[in-house]
Amino acid sequence: MKDHPVNIHDMVRRAIRAQVELGLGEVIVTGTPVKLEENDLVAQMSSVRKVSQTADMFDPAVTVSTTPQYASLEDHFNAMCDCQRCSLGQTRNKLVYGAGNPKADVIFVGEGPGADEDRIGEPFVGRAGQLLDRILAAIQLSREQVYIGNIIKCRPPNNRDPLPEEMESCFPYLLEQIKIIKPKLICCLGRVAAQALLNTKTPLGKLRKQWHDFHGVQTLVTYHPAALLRFASYKRDTWEDMQMLKARLDELTGA
Ligand code: URA
Ligand code: URA
Repeated sequence: MKDHPVNIHDMVRRAIRAQVELGLGEVIVTGTPVKLEENDLVAQMSSVRKVSQTADMFDPAVTVSTTPQYASLEDHFNAMCDCQRCSLGQTRNKLVYGAGNPKADVIFVGEGPGADEDRIGEPFVGRAGQLLDRILAAIQLSREQVYIGNIIKCRPPNNRDPLPEEMESCFPYLLEQIKIIKPKLICCLGRVAAQALLNTKTPLGKLRKQWHDFHGVQTLVTYHPAALLRFASYKRDTWEDMQMLKARLDELTGA
């Protein structure tokens, strides 16, 4: 250990990071026990704490009007596309509003744009997006049939986690999109989207496999496709989540 202090620290850091992102309730470090700098842990866990501060960001228990303010997604986009509500407006290349069928039965909600999305202005166009296409295809859906959006519309610099205040100021946009589209189902992709939308600190693993209510819209939670790229073992769970989504979708649409 003396010979490789930096490597071991990096390994531990990566392991913690991965587990925090996977929404696991506790951090499991396998292999040789290593002494951690407390500051490393605090730094790595801070993304969890940041999300938990969103507690009063938006309360799904509070009844809101389901009447949209705008008649169409185009009108809404035109009204908000120069948004400077938070500082991400200064650093973004393109605002990523969302894409897909304006009459979709199901909306998929991701976290926020990455570098590829920021460059092109479309959600899920990078590697995670290609995997999302395959996940959709597995339940006989295409990107054109569904709607794909994000909790935040602008890319955080260096792909850091969105800050609570950024999610808070951006959330009304997603809410308006949902009111305009009136989907039958919502599927949250990953911890950040799930915890923000459902206004909870519950780990991702505990939010899966059950229907949540988002203002009358049945909502399911699954892993983020980017997580599947790193942890192939989550594909099976995601497959099961998608079967659950598809079954409910067929039920609701009479397919
Ligand atoms: N990851 C997300 O959460 N959203 C995107 O649009 C792209 C990658
Ligand atoms: N990070 C997320 O945001 N979601 C996952 O499913 C895994 C990692």
